[in-house]
Amino acid sequence: MTEFDGLGYGEHRGERENAAADGGSREEGSGDEGSTELEELEIDLLLEAIYRLRGFDFRSYLRSSLRRRIRHRMNLEGVSTISSLQERILHIDGVMERLLEDFSIKVTEMFRDPPFFLAFRKEIVPLLRMHDRLRIWHAGCATGEEVYSMAILLEEEGLLDRTTIYATDMSRTAIALSKEGRFPLKRMQAYTKNYLQAGGSREFSAYYTTDHAYAHFLPSLKKHMMFAQHNLATDGSFNEFQVILCRNVLIYFTPELQSRVFGILNGSLASGGFLALGSKESIISPQRGDFEELNAEYRIFRKRVMP
Ligand SMILES: C[S@@+](CC[C@H](N)C(=O)[O-])C[C@H]1O[C@@H](n2cnc3c(N)ncnc32)[C@H](O)[C@@H]1O
Repeated sequence: MTEFDGLGYGEHRGERENAAADGGSREEGSGDEGSTELEELEIDLLLEAIYRLRGFDFRSYLRSSLRRRIRHRMNLEGVSTISSLQERILHIDGVMERLLEDFSIKVTEMFRDPPFFLAFRKEIVPLLRMHDRLRIWHAGCATGEEVYSMAILLEEEGLLDRTTIYATDMSRTAIALSKEGRFPLKRMQAYTKNYLQAGGSREFSAYYTTDHAYAHFLPSLKKHMMFAQHNLATDGSFNEFQVILCRNVLIYFTPELQSRVFGILNGSLASGGFLALGSKESIISPQRGDFEELNAEYRIFRKRVMP
């Protein structure tokens, strides 16, 4: 069970920018320079150390993506081997935290893949109206842009008042930023375009106030959201949701870890509930039979009602 309170705030300005600069362009795995057997052994030892010391389990993540993040951290720490990085991780405060944050690739945007949000609005929303209370879970919400997008969509469809949106991520800094609900002002032009393509018909700027650098999204949206740290690799399922979105998260996992995660998502979804995945993701676990594909193009599945 996840605690939906008590998470500390930090000052993490620049986090989003760093994520975009470091991982953004490579989110879905571009070129990988390969590695030696020795390097693979060093990575095994490093991931084992992280797991045993901190409980974060990256042993079932795709290696190519992890390798890039490790090399990036080695550059920043000024070391030339993974073993030297490991030594710093074990003996110098803060290095482990920095690598853990590197492993969390927080690339996201508001109304990301607008046609998905349009399909959700047109095909799923009408089916949600029958519920008096709605619980929605964004698993792997990054810095929250997807969550605020969903709140806006539900508000326009008259469903937000009956909804609680739970949003989780393994990254503590991502959760702290999500709670703030402020996004760089310079992104608002692109987000307004996404919003309109996603079927929005109001003035997008009505949803936020601004200062010189940020758009601060309205408290009336935030009051329906609960944020918490939750790790899909190690934590269990919780609650029973009518909708779960887990978009652009599974791409980093091996098939074995994906299968574990589908167990959690399946166990947390009500019968007849909806599961939304990212555009390059699908259900590949033995649990596939529990779902029907509602919209193949936008990866929306519905959990079958078992007799
Ligand atoms: C690329 S972002 C996707 C954000 C958003 N869902 C979207 O589609 O725009 C991937 C997020 O998954 C999170 N993540 C990766 N592994 C995770 C895990 N084991 N448990 C929970 N979140 C995880 C990362 O921290 C990151 O914030």
